[in-house]
Parts: sequence; structure tokens; C-alpha cells
Amino acid sequence: MDKFVVRGGNPLVGTIRVSGAKNSALPCMAAAILTEDEVTLENIPQVRDIETERKLLASMGAEVELGYGRAQHRTTISCRNLSDPVAKYEIVKTMRASSLVLGPLIARCGMARVAMPGGCAIGGRPIDLHLKGLEKMGAVITQEHGYLEARASRLRGTELFFDKITVTGTEDLLMASVLAEGETVMENCAREPEVSDLAAMLIGMGAKIEGAGTPTIRVQGVEKLHGTRHRINPDRIEAGTFLIAGAITRGDLIVANCNPGHLGAVLEKLREAGATVEILNADSIRVRSDGPLQAADISTQEYPGFPTDMQAQYMALATQAEGVSRITENIFENRFMHVQELARMGANIAVDGRTATVRGRAQLSSAAVMCSDLRASASLVLAALVAEGESILDRVYHMDRGYERIEEKLRGVGAQIRRMGNVFGNG
Ligand code: UD1
Repeated sequence: MDKFVVRGGNPLVGTIRVSGAKNSALPCMAAAILTEDEVTLENIPQVRDIETERKLLASMGAEVELGYGRAQHRTTISCRNLSDPVAKYEIVKTMRASSLVLGPLIARCGMARVAMPGGCAIGGRPIDLHLKGLEKMGAVITQEHGYLEARASRLRGTELFFDKITVTGTEDLLMASVLAEGETVMENCAREPEVSDLAAMLIGMGAKIEGAGTPTIRVQGVEKLHGTRHRINPDRIEAGTFLIAGAITRGDLIVANCNPGHLGAVLEKLREAGATVEILNADSIRVRSDGPLQAADISTQEYPGFPTDMQAQYMALATQAEGVSRITENIFENRFMHVQELARMGANIAVDGRTATVRGRAQLSSAAVMCSDLRASASLVLAALVAEGESILDRVYHMDRGYERIEEKLRGVGAQIRRMGNVFGNG
């Protein structure tokens, strides 16, 4: 199993480039199921979850080519012959987002068998809202032997209200509705940029969608969709992670190839914490920090609020700020697994229910730590970048699920970080 060895103390200086958003690419790849034509997606990140999704689509009979070049990361998907609309447990257990194929499979094939999901161990993470919506559109859903089976000859447009805001739930039902009969109106939808990215792709395929990016999405179902070429948004969470890396190491970093418009809440907090943040142009942000960082509270919310996927990384920063920061996690239970590991590096953090109280500034010291999930891993890398001595991070496969060659990117701006074990891709 791969490990990262990180020696702390270097300020990060230079330009670091952001890859395409994993959480946009996953639903967009699933959307290829909706047409017999070929679709091409550009700016696909080279991360393990994308490889998992490739395997998932291929296991159903799709032809998926993943090409990673220097300038273009591209995938071409043809779902002409979807012989087996089944998402098998072996694949689904490693990636919860596999449930995203449910809606498009029923819409295209009239049936789907999808194993109950696994994925990051951050709370219960049910998919009841996906199922409730599909049933309201006329699907008959049964559950047996750990699999969900859904059938509908053609889904019917309807009015849907999400009891709770769900990102992949909104995406799944959006994909189900584009080929449904009549109009679907979805209320209390997720407004994340990944939903808008998917909607843009679907519109490119001939879907009729209004309101993506707002709480109410209206879809007029069509008979058929066609192929398209679509470029995936930059990854706002990777960009946010790099911005924190610049601030925490007292560096001077340009985060390039990002969308500053997607990072409002994160930029605001970095400024409140005392970093200098400058939007240089439409796709790059400069972050600097030479004075002391100050404590600032965060409370995770759905977009456009502070993202839960940045909570762990922000906590690493809070350990280096003067004063007390209160970090409240409102989206997931059990998303504080990084706390214990940060504490092993010398952080002073107390958890009470949904709130972690971080007392800074702590002098972190290197330690052997364990990555527990994707964003927790990023938090540990950030802490290791400022810890005294050499830290060893175990189980970096969690990191490889969502960050493209992060050690190479960080090394390019002055970090001392190397991988031990199998190089990603051969394992
Ligand atoms: C997506 C992101 C993930 C991010 C999360 C919140 C992808 C592939 N993943 O996950 O990185 O952390 O949004 O921004 O895009 N819920 C239910 N029933 C459901 C669905 C969700 O109760 O049917 C609950 C969840 O348990 C959670 C909350 O709703 O408490 C939000 O979850 P959701 O937005 O669905 O997260 P994901 O889409 O899985």
C-alpha cells in the first residue's frame, strides 16, 4: 500500500494547476448512458474514482476510452450496446457515486440493478431520496440480496420535492427526467456547480432543462438524446486545498486553471483568517501569507456555503491560527475522523457533537498517521507540510480517489513530499 513521506517547513511558492472536477466528471460519465451516440468529455481528472467509473460502464457493455495526455485528459464513451444494466457490488462498494447510474439506466434501458453503495466512511449516507424520486416518476423498486432493482417502461414527469438537499440525488433524478414523458419540476435541488456542469452537458445532448444552479429545476422530457463534446469544470475542492496549502505554509502560490466564482465561501474564510487572496483573472487566484494567521469559525453548508469537502483541510489551517476556531459540520455525521490523527501531530482539538473546537497555534510535529477518507487525507498532507520533521501518511489510496498526482503537483511548488510503494496506476 502506498505511503507519502512528507518533510514539513517549506513555504510553497510558484504556480500550481488544478485538474478537472471529479464530482462533475462522475455524473457526466454516467450521463453517457442516456444516448446511443458517442460522447467526449474533456478535462477528466486522472484519479482512481474515474477509473472505477470506467470499469463500471465497461462492465455494462459500454466502450470507454480514457486518454491522458499532457494537455488534454479526455474520455470517449459509447453506450450503444448496453448489454448488462447492472452495477455490481465489487465496483459499487469502492465508490458510492456508482448510484449515479441508477437514474440514467432506468431512463435508457427501462431497468437497472445496482448494488447498495459503499464509498467514504463518513456517516450513513443513504440514497433514499434518489429512490423516492424514481418511485414518484413511476419506477417500481425492489431490494434483494444487497441489490436494488428498478423497473419502468418509461418514467413519467412529475413534481419532486427533496426533503433534504442532495447533490448526487439531484443529479440522478435530473438524468432520469430528461428522457421521461412530460415535465418534471424538482424543488429544493442542490445548487452545486457540479449540478450545473451536468445540466450543461445534458443540454448539449438535446435535453430541455431550465434552472440548474437554482433550487428549482424544470425539465421537459424528450424522446431521444444525441452525442456531445463537453469540457468538465475545474475542481473547486482541489483548488481550495491548494489555496490552504499556500496559506498554511506562509507561501506565495498561484492556483491556476480554477474557477474563482466557485470558491466564494472559501476565499472569504481565508481572508478572515489573515491570508492575502487576490483573484488575478478568470481562472487564477494568488494566495499569500506572511503575518500570523487568525482563528475564524466555519460552519459547513450546501453550496454556496462553506463546502463540507473543505472542512478537514480548513481544520489543518485552524491548528496554525492564533486563537480558538469553531468548526461545525452540518452535512455529514462522523466527518471528524481526521481529528485524532491531527491530534497525534500535536493539534489541540476537542469535538462535541457536530462541532470541533481548535485551539491554536499548535507547533505540529511529524508522526506516522493514517488516512481515513479522501478529504481527511488532504488535511493530513497539509498538516504534514508545516509539521517539524518527516511524517509518514499511510493508506494514501484514499487520496488517489480524488486528487491527481498531488505529490508531483506539490513538489513542483517546493514541497518535500514523495510516494513510497507502488506508483499509482500500477497497483
Ligand atoms: C456529494 C459529493 C461529496 C460531497 C457531498 C456534499 C459527489 C460524487 N460527491 O456527495 O463529495 O461531500 O455531495 O457536498 O458529488 N442524504 C440522505 N438521503 C439521500 C441522499 C443524501 O439522507 O438519498 C443525506 C446524506 O446522508 C447527507 C446529505 O444528505 O447527510 C447530503 O448528501 P449528498 O448531497 O447526497 O452527498 P453526495 O451526493 O453523496
